[in-house]
Amino acid sequence: MRFRIPLSAPDITQAEIEAVTAVLRTPHLSLGPQLNAFESALADYHGVPHAVAVSSGTAGLHIALLTLGIGPGHEVIVPSFTFIAVANAVIQAGATPVFADIDPVTLNLDPASVADGVTHRTRAIIVVHTFGIPAQMDRLRDLADQHNLVLLEDACEAIGATFQQQPVGTFGDLSVFGFYPNKQMTTGEGGAVLARSTAHAARLRSLRNQGRAGTKWLDHAEHGYNYRLSEIACALGTVQLSRLPEMLALREAAVERYLDLLADIPSIELPPSRLPLRTISWFVFVVRMPDGPARDRTQAQLASQGIATGRYFAPIHLQPAWRNHPQGRPSLPVTEAIAPRMLALPLFNRISEQQLSEVSQALAEISISW
Ligand SMILES: Cc1ncc(COP(=O)(O)O)c(C=O)c1O
Repeated sequence: MRFRIPLSAPDITQAEIEAVTAVLRTPHLSLGPQLNAFESALADYHGVPHAVAVSSGTAGLHIALLTLGIGPGHEVIVPSFTFIAVANAVIQAGATPVFADIDPVTLNLDPASVADGVTHRTRAIIVVHTFGIPAQMDRLRDLADQHNLVLLEDACEAIGATFQQQPVGTFGDLSVFGFYPNKQMTTGEGGAVLARSTAHAARLRSLRNQGRAGTKWLDHAEHGYNYRLSEIACALGTVQLSRLPEMLALREAAVERYLDLLADIPSIELPPSRLPLRTISWFVFVVRMPDGPARDRTQAQLASQGIATGRYFAPIHLQPAWRNHPQGRPSLPVTEAIAPRMLALPLFNRISEQQLSEVSQALAEISISW
């Protein structure tokens, strides 16, 4: 279905179009200067030594896990209230995801639930900064250190967010970003892994490029993958990254407007606009409906008016793909209570005042019938 007001939209200006077309006039369409420039810009932005661009956030999670030595026989603690790629990457690495519950305010991993999930097989925690809200990194880092676990940050939804004034993506042993077109910045498809150690960066570059460790194209030191990101995508990414502060400010202004416009609807809960110790990078604007049926009716009614919304997220452990999995049905009371009520409203950089008012007005009218 085509919506009058989409859920998300990329923000592409003449600068991106010129950068991409300039690449097309060169003979370098892969593994060239744009890759180096994009990786340097990402590393500089975060103040870390290495960034390795990859073909998607999922690919980044996969090779980050392999680089951290995660594989068969290992358990990795992950949230269930997130995008399914997180669990899929653990399976791809040959390890077992173990789902933990979330904090009801930040919607991120609850450190107490993570601690409950630790066994003698646990090797890693994947911390997701859900919806662009930073997770409780101090407590999660302590927990990881206490149990000798590696900490992998999934910052796919959170570029530009900070915890205690430190950018997300700089806390983990490795961290992963995603640049799908619904994200705060995009490369079309794409992602990146940030690394502090030269050895990690070299391993990531080898795994991304069919296990090529040296310069010879047909020498393969290990089993690897084709997770390369094209020069075209990298050129797009460099311009998007240079515009990130401006783009995050536009999203924040739209969120502030939503918070005003929706403040008088008594039956919905709005996301927190500020949280202690954190700056939020707004990926999506998700409101909580009174219950699941009201959420589903609202979504259908908004769709009939041409307004797109999203059910962010359907818990991974309740997905059909997980029905027969040994870890498929843990008890995650917060996740299970919250997920059916969540509805993401349209949010993108160029959302207009008219569109924000229209969505808010439609929601106010529908809420009368709950
Ligand atoms: C939390 C999270 N992890 C991983 C991914 C996977 O990224 P990609 O779609 O680029 O593979 C996404 C989003 O798309 C995500 O939201």
